[in-house]
Amino acid sequence: MAIIVAPSLLAADFTKLEEQISAVEAAGAEYLHLDVMDGHLVPNISFGVPVIASLRKCSNMVFDTHLMISEPHKYVKAFADAGADIITIHVECDSDVDKTIDEIHALGKKAGLALNPDADLSRAVPYFDKIDMLLIMSVYAGFGGQKYIMDVNDKIKEARKLLGPDFDIQVDGGIYLSNLDVPVSAGANVIVAGSAVFGSADPAQAVRDFKAATA
Ligand code: DX5
Ligand code: ZN
Repeated sequence: MAIIVAPSLLAADFTKLEEQISAVEAAGAEYLHLDVMDGHLVPNISFGVPVIASLRKCSNMVFDTHLMISEPHKYVKAFADAGADIITIHVECDSDVDKTIDEIHALGKKAGLALNPDADLSRAVPYFDKIDMLLIMSVYAGFGGQKYIMDVNDKIKEARKLLGPDFDIQVDGGIYLSNLDVPVSAGANVIVAGSAVFGSADPAQAVRDFKAATA
């Protein structure tokens, strides 16, 4: 299964967003991973709707919107209108997960469901027949630059077994060229990388390296 590279904008230089996004897009990154944090579900605040709406004007990448927010049902329409293509919510959020997934689909968008490292896979199983992507966090959501938690590998393997060979399983956090084979060999096919791409001196080269390593 082809590996999709999803650079996380969180690690970008925010004074050069257009330039950096164009560079990773030209290098072959399929998704742009957009980490939205509300300071409530996670202890950090990042960016939101207006930033994504502006970026939509300068990129044709799949906008892979990772909502680390407590009440996503209140905002899914705003993110859809801003140009999100995939809207991922956390199983740990306070919204009705089932209804929020339905709302995302009603807006014509793909729905993802995310699990923090301490959330058992069983919490996502009831939604397997209605989600388009499962996001297995390999760090606790909230900050870039953390270390990959090896314990999640079993969860990835189990998810791949249950979801079959063609389902999109995304892994997010602490992934570099040096350990890329860890989530990939466990069964992940959508790889998020923040520090390893936008945190590097040459984000485009980092994407090419990721693509070459998984070709
Ligand atoms: C963490 C975010 C990640 C983060 C990944 O809450 O969901 O997407 O940006 O960053 P790195 O690749 O630096 O761990
Ligand atoms: Zn993320």
